[in-house]
Amino acid sequence: MTTTRELRDREDSITMLTAYDAPTAAVVDEAGIDAVLVGDSMGNAAMGYDTTLPVTMADVTSRTAAVARAVDDALVVADMPFLSFGVDEAESVRNAGTLLKEADADAVKLESGPHTVEATRRMTAIGIPVMAHLGLTPQHVNRLGGYTQQGTDQDAAEEILELARAHEAAGAFALVIEHVPAPLAAAVTDALAIPTIGIGAGPDCDGQVLVINDVVGLGEWSPPFSRQFGDVRGELRRAVEKYKTAVADGSFPAEEHYDADADLADLTSDETPDGAEGQETPDGTEETPDGAGDPTN
Ligand code: KIV
Repeated sequence: MTTTRELRDREDSITMLTAYDAPTAAVVDEAGIDAVLVGDSMGNAAMGYDTTLPVTMADVTSRTAAVARAVDDALVVADMPFLSFGVDEAESVRNAGTLLKEADADAVKLESGPHTVEATRRMTAIGIPVMAHLGLTPQHVNRLGGYTQQGTDQDAAEEILELARAHEAAGAFALVIEHVPAPLAAAVTDALAIPTIGIGAGPDCDGQVLVINDVVGLGEWSPPFSRQFGDVRGELRRAVEKYKTAVADGSFPAEEHYDADADLADLTSDETPDGAEGQETPDGTEETPDGAGDPTN
């Protein structure tokens, strides 16, 4: 099993992908990806929301548990959803702990800012490994006014660099850096001993992360900084259409898909099996042995 320490000490580039269900997580793990992020991107990627804001602790807990059951080797990182942290410090720490305790996550990720430095310190101190996340943090979409590149001017870039240092000092074991200019991601990577994992942040990070829908070509839309390595949407569509055609033209189910030879009595006859005759009740109605005729059953 990959540990947070191994991730930190890796020589090769770290690979991380999101997954939100067991079969996808199993494939990602079998392919040798280092870390599986149960991202709150599930809001857009798997749950049909326009943003990640409606995603709840219950959503992340159940999907992380499904992913953790399917993964043997990769590090499983659960993303803390909007409002599960940052409101009340004790509640934040407890929610993070729940993702380890009830969903079997190995670590949590927090969309970070000045407000998460202390929470990162407390979580780390009690044994909850924290992955920080700076740059574009989609939970702040309403404040940012869109999913735009961050750290594009000197002050903003310096603020991100300072926050990266502060989260490292607070104990974060890795940092996701999203949608910032490549030179800023390179400078942050240079300044930290913990690994940086970039998304839309150029080639100089210690690793890369993408949303699984973008990588396999499942989404209707993908951000320009992602790349589609497959056409799963097209493949799904073709399979579903073939199924529809096969049912319509009678080629499915074919003989190998059903059992026509079972030795059963004639089920179309009106006679009920021996001993199962309906019994007459005092009011003259007939009662079946298992009460199957009773609509309240
Ligand atoms: O929620 C998510 O999938 C993420 C990644 C894009 C880093 O935060």
